[in-house]
Amino acid sequence: MQIKEAAMYLNTTPKAIRFYETKGLITPRKDEGNQYRYFSESDLYRLSTILALREIGVAVQDIKTILEDPNLSIRQYLDIQRSALFEQWLEMRDMIETIDEMLEQNWKNDSIEAIHQLAAHLKNMKEIRGKWQDRWDFNEQAKDYDNHIKREGHVFNVHEGYDEGLQAVVEKVKLGSCSVVADIGIGTGNLGAKFLPNHKVIGVDQSEKMLEKCKEKHPTIETRNGHFLALPLLDQSVDAIVSSYALHHLPDEEKLLALKEMKRVLKPNGQIGIVDLMFQDEIHRKNVLNQFRKAGNQIAVDSIEDEYYANQSLLVEWLKQNGYKVEAIQINRILGLIYAYS
Ligand SMILES: C[S@@+](CC[C@H](N)C(=O)[O-])C[C@H]1O[C@@H](n2cnc3c(N)ncnc32)[C@H](O)[C@@H]1O
Repeated sequence: MQIKEAAMYLNTTPKAIRFYETKGLITPRKDEGNQYRYFSESDLYRLSTILALREIGVAVQDIKTILEDPNLSIRQYLDIQRSALFEQWLEMRDMIETIDEMLEQNWKNDSIEAIHQLAAHLKNMKEIRGKWQDRWDFNEQAKDYDNHIKREGHVFNVHEGYDEGLQAVVEKVKLGSCSVVADIGIGTGNLGAKFLPNHKVIGVDQSEKMLEKCKEKHPTIETRNGHFLALPLLDQSVDAIVSSYALHHLPDEEKLLALKEMKRVLKPNGQIGIVDLMFQDEIHRKNVLNQFRKAGNQIAVDSIEDEYYANQSLLVEWLKQNGYKVEAIQINRILGLIYAYS
C-alpha cells in the first residue's frame, strides 16, 4: 500500500505518516527507483499503534521507547500511562476546586490572606502527591514475598496474625454478588483473592513486579498500576475498598489523603476494610515500644520506627467526620482492623 492509501486506511494524513518516519518510529520499504514508500501489513499495524498512543497523549519519544523495549509490553505501558493521567486529572481537579474557593473570596483586600492559604494548601497537596517513594523496593521483594511472610520463630514477627487479619476483613466486608472490590497495595494478591470468584477484583499497586506476581497467581484479578494518593479508578466505581499491610508505607498526613481517595472512588454505601500495622493511639504506640525496649528487642523497635504504623484513632476520626460508621479492632499489639461503612 502506498502512503496516500495508508493514510486513508488509517484515517490520518500522509504528512503525519512522514513525520513519524522522520522520528524513526516507522521505516517503510522504499522503491529504489521512484522512492515511493510501500507499507506492509506490519507497517500498518505499527502505524495504527502509534496513532492510538498519540491519541491518548503519549509523547513521540515515549512511543519510540515502548516500541523498541522488548521488556515492556504495550499493555504494561498503557497501565502506567493510565496511572499518570489519573494523577494529572486529580491535580487538575484540585486546581479547579481551589479556583472555585478563591472566587468565593471575591478578591477583596481582606480576603488576600485566605487566598494565599488556599494557594499554599494546593501547593502542599501537589508536593504530597509527588514526593512518595518506594524505599522498600517492592519490585525486588515481589518474587519471594509470599515465602517471606514470616509466621513464627523470629525475634520480631511483623506478620503475626497475618491470616487472621486478612480473614477478619473478609468477614466484615459483606457484599452482594458480582460486586466490585478494589484491593489497594494488593502485592501478590492474598487479600483480594479471597473475594474471588463471586466478585470482580481490581488490584492496585505501585509495584509492577508485585502486579505481575499477583496476575500469575490469580489471572482473574484485574491489576492496575497506581498509587494510594491517585487511585486509577473513576469516581464512585467500586463497592468496597480493602487493603492489607500496605497503608503503613505512607506517613499519617498522606494516609488521610488516601482515605479521601477511597471515598472518591467508592459508590454511595461503599465499604472500607483495612487491616494493617497500627496502634490505637499515641499512648498505645509508646507503651508497645517501651515493652520491646524493656525486653531488649531493638530489632522490633527499629522495624516499627522505620515505617509509619498508623494511629488508628486519627483514621477513625477522619472516617466519622466524613460520614462513615466505623468499627475498629486491635487484633494484636501491632495489628489493627478498621471497617467503615455508610
Ligand atoms: C507489605 S506488602 C502487602 C501486600 C499485600 N497487601 C499483603 O497483605 O500481603 C505492601 C504492598 O503495598 C504496596 N504499596 C506500598 N505503598 C504503596 C502506595 N503508596 N501506593 C500503592 N501501593 C503501595 C507495595 O508495592 C506492596 O505491594
